[in-house]
Amino acid sequence: MGGPDMAPQTPQRSDTPRQSRGAPRSPDAPGGPDMAPPTPRRSDAAILSVRELRTHFFAEDGVVKAVDGASFDVHAGRTLGIVGESGCGKSVTARSILGIVERPGRIVGGEIRLRRQGDGGGEDDLVRLDPRGPEMRRIRGGEIGLVFQEPMSSFSPVHTVGNQIVETIRLHLGLDRAAARARAIELLRMVGIPRPERRIDEYAFQLSGGLRQRAMIATALCCGPRILIADEPTTALDVTTQAQILALLRELQARERMAIVLITHNLGVVAELCDEVVVMYLGRVVERGPVDAIFHAPQHPYTRALLRSIPSVHARVRTKLPAIAGSLPHPYRRPAGCPFHPRCAEALRGTCEQHEPELQPLAADGRAVSCFLHHPVAAP
Ligand SMILES: Nc1ncnc2c1ncn2[C@@H]1O[C@H](COP(=O)(O)OP(=O)(O)OP(=O)(O)O)[C@@H](O)[C@H]1O
Ligand code: SF4
Ligand SMILES: [Mg+2]
Repeated sequence: MGGPDMAPQTPQRSDTPRQSRGAPRSPDAPGGPDMAPPTPRRSDAAILSVRELRTHFFAEDGVVKAVDGASFDVHAGRTLGIVGESGCGKSVTARSILGIVERPGRIVGGEIRLRRQGDGGGEDDLVRLDPRGPEMRRIRGGEIGLVFQEPMSSFSPVHTVGNQIVETIRLHLGLDRAAARARAIELLRMVGIPRPERRIDEYAFQLSGGLRQRAMIATALCCGPRILIADEPTTALDVTTQAQILALLRELQARERMAIVLITHNLGVVAELCDEVVVMYLGRVVERGPVDAIFHAPQHPYTRALLRSIPSVHARVRTKLPAIAGSLPHPYRRPAGCPFHPRCAEALRGTCEQHEPELQPLAADGRAVSCFLHHPVAAP
């Protein structure tokens, strides 16, 4: 990976490339000296702002409030990690952004504002667009790419991998078949698939798990998205391939100034790859902020519990890992008050089971937390 044949193939954007968290690029690095990125601009306006997003599933037995008031920002050239226990709404958040929430689910509130390219800061609210309409189809796959955990279910078994990438390129970029095929081969090479001229005519089941995941990344990148949403992109892979895929994402981001939203259970990956973190619990953001601040001084009791559950390199082999006390409530039975109160060792009796905390700014470093240990109960 990383050879000179990996020159970026995605269309040029008006955004200036940023420097990655990795080593500085030399003038003869892929992309050439004219693409040398400047230092990051931390004050960049968000390219995607999710505000009070609510996505509920209306099943026969009750309503699952899968996402229930999530708010966060995504910035060009930076990686946002979304973490939280299974079922906390990470994937439904991603699917909401892309307008692919499955029935009986639907977005019932909030905004997903995508800043338009090159028109002085105009925005589209994706919640208001028809999920099957032309505008949303252009954005999905064109401006926002998605990498799922299991690529086997994303590739059609009756079409070659190349065919599917070629069709996506033709649909979004309007290239003829020969040009689209040439571009698909370049993309497969860029994501580190050997002999892409041959591999392009293979079916997904003929590729190994690692190559399938790379092919899926190539598909997600084929139209030069401004935002890549990667939902557990490496969970099914062995450790070596996992490291290669993550290195590839980092490299692509450094070159393309793409924003990445990385959904993962692996807090080690978050520490290594992410700039900001959103911690979700029962469909709500309970804490968010810069990765260093969250890891070194977590403020929400749930974040602290999550971080305690990471195996330490110093732990003895047979040391039992501390699990988060209590279990997730049934999706239909969301606790009143602070949703975490039945499991919280620091709950304030008389307050936490009655009132629901709001996500509020905590410090000048951009941190926000939703907990009565940090904010008083709002006046009725
Ligand atoms: N199609 C569906 N019908 C009904 N409920 C659903 C559906 N999809 C998701 N849910 C519910 O929405 C909630 C959030 O699910 P989601 O898949 O977003 O969790 P997650 O955080 O991605 O979990 P994981 O880490 O296991 O992937 C869960 O309670 C889940 O059961
Ligand atoms: S609001 Fe109360 S119950 Fe909720 S996390 Fe904070 S202390 Fe715990
Ligand atoms: Mg998920």
